[in-house]
Amino acid sequence: MEIATSERIQPNTQAFKEVLRIRQSCRGFLETSVPDEMIASVLEDAKLSPSNCNTQPWETHIVSGDKLKELSEALLKENEAERLSPDLSFDMNEYHGCYQERYFNLGKTMYEGFDVKREDKEGRKEVSDLNYKFFNAPHIAIPFMPSFGDNVRVGGDIGMYGQTFLLSLTAHGLAGIPQTSLGFFAGTIREILNVPSELKMLFGISFGYADPNALGNSFKLGRDPITSNVTFHQ
Ligand SMILES: Cc1cc2nc3c(=O)[nH]c(=O)nc-3n(C[C@H](O)[C@H](O)[C@H](O)COP(=O)(O)O)c2cc1C
Repeated sequence: MEIATSERIQPNTQAFKEVLRIRQSCRGFLETSVPDEMIASVLEDAKLSPSNCNTQPWETHIVSGDKLKELSEALLKENEAERLSPDLSFDMNEYHGCYQERYFNLGKTMYEGFDVKREDKEGRKEVSDLNYKFFNAPHIAIPFMPSFGDNVRVGGDIGMYGQTFLLSLTAHGLAGIPQTSLGFFAGTIREILNVPSELKMLFGISFGYADPNALGNSFKLGRDPITSNVTFHQ
């Protein structure tokens, strides 16, 4: 017998709310690998994401082991040489007003969490470089996407996929962090993974088991109340 959607949803509401609130971007992982079956289970969840006209525009690559080491070395080198190869533009200087304030607040909270002073340029760079060491994660997932028009629709779909992936990680007792910083080197990543140039990259997701003692996990970002960002119409 088909169960009504409302009846199916009710008992799981609490669990869903908990998963949502437990999830946070993880900036310090244990070395422990995630079993293949668990990675497959997360991928099975992520593929249920909605997409424009059900086009499912994700071509996901999972990188682990020696390949991940090779990628990290290449990214650190390219970052040092400032040889960026992004597919899509991204300029935080374009953000203004409350969006810029939130961006500044993230930087302040994060560097305080890592115990790095504002004027400590080297310390800030070390933290920033952690992106290219995948915060010690044993795996990364890269949802590559085909390119259509201005890429906004397909980019939105990839965002949906990324969020389902992240929530599923949390529900499996894992952790992850989406990283635009990896997208800055889309060209390098494509070359190393032998991905065709037709597939573009927005962000990667480092994932694994969170290290509870890592400084990178010692802070949590808040959110503005819905009264400041929701308008009701009747
Ligand atoms: C698409 C996307 C890209 C991101 N890129 C990075 C990144 O390159 N490095 C980083 O440390 N955090 C990155 N973040 C994490 C955000 O800083 C984080 O989601 C935000 O501060 C809210 O914190 P929370 O995820 O812990 O709730 C990214 C988040 C998203 C959604």
